[in-house]
Amino acid sequence: MDFYKSTVIYGLLVLSALFLSCSNKENKTDTIETRVNQLLDRMTLDEKIGQMTQIDPGFAGGEEQMKKSVRDGRYGSMLNLFGVEKVNELQKISVEESRLGIPLLIGRDVIHGYQTIFPIPLGMAASWNPEIVKKAFRISAIECSSQGIKWTFAPMVDITWDPRWGRIAEGCGEDPFLASSLSRAMVEGIQGESLTDPSAVAACAKHFVGYGFSEGGRDYSTTYISEPVLRNVVLKPFLAARDAGALTFMSGFNDLNGVPASGNEFTLKQILRKEWDFKGMVVSDWASVSEMISHGYCSNEKEAALKALKAGVDMEMSSLTYAGNIKALLQEGRIEQWVIDDAVRNILRVKYKLGLFENPYVSPEAQKQLLNPEFLDHAQKVARQSAVLLKNDQKTLPLSQKIRSVAVFGPLADSPRDQLGTWVFDGKAENSVTPLAAIRELLGPDKVNFIKGLQYSRDKNRGEFVKALALAKQSDAILYFGGEEWILSGEGQSRGEINLPGAQEELIAELARSGKPLVVIIMAGRPLAVGKVAGMADALLYGWHGGTMAGPALADLIFGKESPSGKLPVTFVKGSGQIPFYYYHNQTGRPASEGSWTPMDSIPVVNPQSSLGYKSFHLDYGFTPLYPFGYGLSYTTFKYSGLKLSSMSMSTTGSIVVSANITNTGEMDGDEIVQFYIRDRVGSITRPVKELKGFQRVSIPQGMQKEIQFTLNAKDLSFFNGKTQVVEPGEFDVWIGPNSAEGLHGEFNMH
Ligand code: GLC
Repeated sequence: MDFYKSTVIYGLLVLSALFLSCSNKENKTDTIETRVNQLLDRMTLDEKIGQMTQIDPGFAGGEEQMKKSVRDGRYGSMLNLFGVEKVNELQKISVEESRLGIPLLIGRDVIHGYQTIFPIPLGMAASWNPEIVKKAFRISAIECSSQGIKWTFAPMVDITWDPRWGRIAEGCGEDPFLASSLSRAMVEGIQGESLTDPSAVAACAKHFVGYGFSEGGRDYSTTYISEPVLRNVVLKPFLAARDAGALTFMSGFNDLNGVPASGNEFTLKQILRKEWDFKGMVVSDWASVSEMISHGYCSNEKEAALKALKAGVDMEMSSLTYAGNIKALLQEGRIEQWVIDDAVRNILRVKYKLGLFENPYVSPEAQKQLLNPEFLDHAQKVARQSAVLLKNDQKTLPLSQKIRSVAVFGPLADSPRDQLGTWVFDGKAENSVTPLAAIRELLGPDKVNFIKGLQYSRDKNRGEFVKALALAKQSDAILYFGGEEWILSGEGQSRGEINLPGAQEELIAELARSGKPLVVIIMAGRPLAVGKVAGMADALLYGWHGGTMAGPALADLIFGKESPSGKLPVTFVKGSGQIPFYYYHNQTGRPASEGSWTPMDSIPVVNPQSSLGYKSFHLDYGFTPLYPFGYGLSYTTFKYSGLKLSSMSMSTTGSIVVSANITNTGEMDGDEIVQFYIRDRVGSITRPVKELKGFQRVSIPQGMQKEIQFTLNAKDLSFFNGKTQVVEPGEFDVWIGPNSAEGLHGEFNMH
């Protein structure tokens, strides 16, 4: 449809919407609460149940049936309906042909970009830069709202300790403090400055709650989480989303301590509504209401509807237990009218807050917003800051742009779809700029030779190994781009082992035989067990699935336009046998330490039964991870010095300032993510050996020094020892350092 014609149609739609909203006896100047209640009073039971139902067009019984259902007010929301014309067409039916003209809320998974695709959220978390992450989500909202999407099922803020879990890719890693900072930024980015702005989109904090603790890292499996861990870790980023004003939450698939998250009154009612006073709307996950039958928590759909509604799920996604049973439950007296009305109020309130009654249609004008150069530049910046330098022996990196020839290998060197990562519904692989393309652009094609070596990440065919080695020997440096195809992480895509798939380790070993500088760049959706690879490579750069502009971002780093600055948002384990491994673990009664454990290979073959340490470690893996949380190198070096505390003690109502000097002692400007940790030595329950309580990304020019300060209030030291949040006097350690495993140490007491 040409632009002029669609603009005229849009203008007519707007005029008719204005006329109808006036004729709906609504007073625009009333408060939203008044308007919600006035509308609610006019709704029939069927219309109320309709608002509580969200459907995917693929399950709506065909085009004509779908339009009839919308006309009859049987849906409050649709997900996966896309295309401006389609959205405006259905919205027109809802607004102009249904009895009350209630607009539809159009939802979609815009998890890390719409058409401009940013790194997977786990990668964005590695930037430790809430500001650029917020802008990334703002850009995503501008793009998706221009296509009629006014609700995204993001941010996903499930904490997890298990890299086998495919959905680790979608979250912000293992730490509640970092995840909370990013959760706030993502919600603010999605919803923007004003909810009635056409580019505002309703955020949805998911999956409430505990889904990331799926046993065995198997998706959808059982979760058992103690109340202290639930409150001190898992709930924190959701509270941050609520504080940031997230309009909606999504209940999860998992059964939590025996009660499915989508029927869990403790989490949905007691915590979310009573303790947090959340006034937004809760939507279930896809069919997670009807799946309570499979869980064995409900006998049938009527019971599933009853338990979900009583627990506080306002809108049912995809399954139709509400549509099919609420009327009967009301007539049988098993549910009261006010419960239904409360759910509908929560739904209508979101629609009013988004201004959908005034502006239900999408203007064709907005459509020009996709993939504009500024958006792509930002995607490149985020991908650059998300990459983590894990090894760089003999300053192998950065390579000189004057290099004579570079040999590029690997299944992800030129894989435009894989670099986008999981949860990409609307991004297009054809827009990707791959590492190979970017390096050719930077150096000139004749300097760059390319042999894939393996056709895809799981490929075991060694047919190209011989010629790959031959090429490597002729080149000045080797760049190997490996990792995982995008399909190996994400929903329903968990792995038992987390090594490099296929014959990638073998190919890297082959290339290492060339004796040439070997740079390995990993693009994956999870932390992989890259210990062997790290042993063979001279330099190791972790780029995650870096999105549309991953190629230019990695080329910028490899050839020194900018130094890598990312830090790990999640612990990298030596192998899946170490899982779960997270830095804020408890001390235990027998903590291991260097020298206190016996590596398996050093156990004498003939030996009397003697102690191998009787400490908490693995004989093969030891007790430390491959790379600790917060770890990441730079092309320059930073020296930490001069730790200072404003006082050696503070009261339970006071605060303390902890500072240190960071000096750029290297030969290049660089960013350093300075981290601030504490330890509560003794508590009414056992406490973590470390907890992140602050971080600052700081740019320090070569040779310069900056003082970084962190302020600690007593509230920052509070924790839940069960249901109760407490502040307990005692002795505390503090660290300011480059990661969770090292830093300048100080101590103070709280009285
Ligand atoms: C999926 C996911 C959820 C997503 C929803 C809609 O199953 O669990 O994160 O938002 O369905 O696609």
